[in-house]
This record gives sequence, structure tokens and C-alpha cells, in this order.
Amino acid sequence: MESNIIVRVANGGDTHYAQTITDEMESSAKARGTGIAKRSPEYVAKKMEEGKAVIAVLPDGTWVGFCYIEVWGHEEFVANSGLIVSPEYRKTGVAKQIKQTIFNLSRERYPEAKIFGLTTGLAVMKINSDLGYEPVTYSELTDDEEFWAGCKSCVNYDILMSKDRKNCMCTAMLYDPKDHYEPKETSEEFKQNSKLYERFMKIKQSKLLTIFRKKESGNGGAAKPKSLFHYFFSF
Ligand SMILES: CC(C)(COP(=O)(O)OP(=O)(O)OC[C@H]1O[C@@H](n2cnc3c(N)ncnc32)[C@H](O)[C@@H]1OP(=O)(O)O)[C@@H](O)C(=O)NCCC(=O)NCCS
Repeated sequence: MESNIIVRVANGGDTHYAQTITDEMESSAKARGTGIAKRSPEYVAKKMEEGKAVIAVLPDGTWVGFCYIEVWGHEEFVANSGLIVSPEYRKTGVAKQIKQTIFNLSRERYPEAKIFGLTTGLAVMKINSDLGYEPVTYSELTDDEEFWAGCKSCVNYDILMSKDRKNCMCTAMLYDPKDHYEPKETSEEFKQNSKLYERFMKIKQSKLLTIFRKKESGNGGAAKPKSLFHYFFSF
């Protein structure tokens, strides 16, 4: 990471960045051609005011990156969502540092909560693995209706609903403080096999699309996968 980038917990003085952040979230999603739960500048600003967000900036005030915390199911679950890095600062380790900072903040503020995320991106899966997250089926995530309502603005929402909310294009990953294992093992397994996982992810997504297009119904599975391989074969 560029040494002059400051990664810190956001506050009320950062709300002027909210519009830039939501604009970048939207244009990045368009460029990737993937779905995203849209967030308004007001929502992002509120997260900053509540101290439930992490921002990366340069000393001159240039915005570099962002991520925020959402709390679900009466604090049983915490999601670290909306990770975004400004295109010119990508691939230098900024996202890694933002995710580490928001993970620490989540653990401090909600030590009992399970931390989870939904993503279509290999970079985020890598970072999550390093932090000790495991891939899980959607049945292990919160059943809070409000969380799932956030997916309504995603282009893949019809696919999610056609699978009874049991599966979709995103991979679910979860850190459970009560069932915590040594992250090194999964992290190394992930690194060694990341090309393979990328392929599995594409296969999973194309299968889901085929099934959706044929309007067939399916079962996303309820059991907790034993390994990353198991997960990718469990759709
Ligand atoms: C995804 C995103 C946040 C990554 O930010 P970044 O600052 O470039 O990521 P980092 O430099 O910290 O890289 C973290 C790891 O992911 C890898 N990585 C980064 N971009 C990658 C990509 N496009 N494909 C595969 N791996 C990638 C890095 O090599 C690094 O792995 P390593 O630890 O093995 O070296 C950034 O590309 C982005 O903002 N994308 C658009 C929004 C988005 O997709 N958000 C995620 C929504 S869930």
C-alpha cells in the first residue's frame, strides 16, 4: 500500500465524501457488469456519523477507499459491506487494510457477533480468507428481512428469489467468533487454489443463470460445507 494513505474510522467530518463514494460504487458495479445493493449518499453519511465506517484518504484529503458496518438480527450478525477503492489506488493493498480495520472495529464493538459478507469478487474472497472467514451457505446468514431487502436493487435479485434466497451469484463468507479456527490453513488453501476457485465461481454462476433461465426451482443446501472445495461443489 502507498505509505501516505491514511486508513481510519470515519466520522461526521467525512460526510462530504458520501456522494463521491456512492457514485464510485455505482460506476464500478456497472463496469464489472455485476449486481450491487445500492446505497444512497445519506445512508453512507449516517454510517460515518455513527462511527460504523472506515475510510481511506490521502493527507491532502483525496478520497481513496471505504467500507461500512451493518448490524442485523439484534446484533447476532454484523456485515462488513460496501467495500470500494478508487480505481487509481487499486492493487496496492488498500482494500486489505480497510477490511482489516473494519474487521477490528466490528470485533471491538460487537465481540459476540458473527461477521459476514456477500461478494462476487475474488479479491474480497482472498482478503476474507486471510481474516479467518469461511465460505458458507446462505442458510447460515441472518434471516433479517431488512438485510435481504437490501438486495432488491441488485440486478440479480430475481435469481436470488427464484432460489428461495438459498443461493445467488454472490459467495457468502462468515467469521464466527465461537467457532473460530486458525485462518492460516484456509488462507493458504485459498492461495494455492485461487485460480481453481475462480473457475468454480464462474461455473456456479453460469449454472445458476442456466437454471434461472429455465425457470427451474432448486435447493441451495443447508449443511455447512467442510472445505472451500465442498462449498464450490455445493450449489
Ligand atoms: C475489490 C477491490 C475493493 C479490491 O481493492 P484493492 O485495493 O485493489 O485490493 P488489494 O490491493 O488490497 O488486494 C487484496 C488481494 O486481492 C487481490 N486482488 C486485487 N484485485 C483483484 C482482482 N481484480 N482479481 C483477483 N484478485 C485481486 C490482490 O492481489 C490481493 O491478493 P494477495 O493478498 O494474494 O496479494 C477493488 O478492486 C474495488 O473497489 N472494486 C470495485 C468494487 C468491488 O468490487 N467491491 C467489492 C464488493 S463485495
